[in-house]
Amino acid sequence: MEATTRLFDSLALCCPQCDSHERLLVDGAWARCTGCAALWPVEEGCVDLYGAAGDSTADHYTLQWGEEKNFLDFVRKQPDAKKIMPAGQLGWHDLFEEIRQRARGSLTDNPSSNGQREPVRVYDAACGFGGIAEELIQDDTKHGLLYVGADIHQSLPAIVRRLPLLRECGLLLRWDISWPLPSDTVFDYVVCRAALHHTPNPARTFEALCSHVRAGGQIALSVYRKKGPAREALDDLYRARITPLPTRQAFEVSRQFTALGKALQSIHAKVSIDEDLPVFDIKKGEYSVQTLFYNHFLKCFYNPVFGEEYSTLVNFDWYHPPFAYRYDRAEVLDWFEQKGWNVLRAESIEAQHYVLAQRPPE
Ligand SMILES: C[S@@+](CC[C@H](N)C(=O)[O-])C[C@H]1O[C@@H](n2cnc3c(N)ncnc32)[C@H](O)[C@@H]1O
Ligand SMILES: [Zn+2]
Repeated sequence: MEATTRLFDSLALCCPQCDSHERLLVDGAWARCTGCAALWPVEEGCVDLYGAAGDSTADHYTLQWGEEKNFLDFVRKQPDAKKIMPAGQLGWHDLFEEIRQRARGSLTDNPSSNGQREPVRVYDAACGFGGIAEELIQDDTKHGLLYVGADIHQSLPAIVRRLPLLRECGLLLRWDISWPLPSDTVFDYVVCRAALHHTPNPARTFEALCSHVRAGGQIALSVYRKKGPAREALDDLYRARITPLPTRQAFEVSRQFTALGKALQSIHAKVSIDEDLPVFDIKKGEYSVQTLFYNHFLKCFYNPVFGEEYSTLVNFDWYHPPFAYRYDRAEVLDWFEQKGWNVLRAESIEAQHYVLAQRPPE
């Protein structure tokens, strides 16, 4: 059986247009609803359940993660880039290693499997440029993994072309993660890296994600961290100017943040701050000019590993998407507290918070 059809079967995807839980069947280039006969486009095994019309978030990320910028190839060629990104820090590495290990032995610890070997089920909500799929799906994990990635951008087929193993154990859906997937499937792991804050109503998205975690399963997410007052104010000011711009124009404007960051980085003198300055949220210490300016006043990313083009991509990612909520750590922990879910790991870096939590076993 063709892999896409097999995955469709095990996910039991329903038609998002029908209330009656009608199933979707893959039929060549279309997924067809057995109830209302609606047709949903299928390309490279990606099913578009979102609809052709994009919104500005989708348009932004269609360019950011598409073939023209080719971010996945950049990360492959520049492994050092990952260490610089929040995605390469926090608890992600350990979590992916745990998932890979389980997948190698097809060892879900789901009690409902009754000791049978079953694939480890992963829902990668807002799967972006395919970075998580690339890390999880390998020759020795693909037989023990069922991977579902969802995102609203239109470059998903281009990503599958670069990740041929994905089609053997996974599926990408064009889908708004603000809503539960049109499937009753529950997952061993739901991951949502650096994306919840880009959805219009993160609380609703959080509930949608949690609804797909099986009893005893885990959810991992990272969100933007709230910064000091000056940096927050300037973020808001420049977002208000850049967010409404057409996507390519916003990319061009973002080059100026890169140029400023590069210029500041060329200053090698250190700035010594002799006491804590809470009004600026600055701690006593020694800083490079760029770090002091960047962390407390204005995001203007430049890193030689990223070069000018990909540094601009980072600035564009910061200033252009329409939604970019920021949080205190306590707020994020409270989401889990409210649900009575057990936080297994929580950590923060300058840019983001990360939480790994477990849904109580039944
Ligand atoms: C900063 S990227 C993170 C991508 C990926 N999770 C990672 O860490 O590599 C944010 C992603 O969220 C996606 N996104 C934003 N709003 C979304 C929504 N409502 N539904 C699905 N995806 C969304 C964007 O298209 C983008 O790919
Ligand atoms: Zn239907």
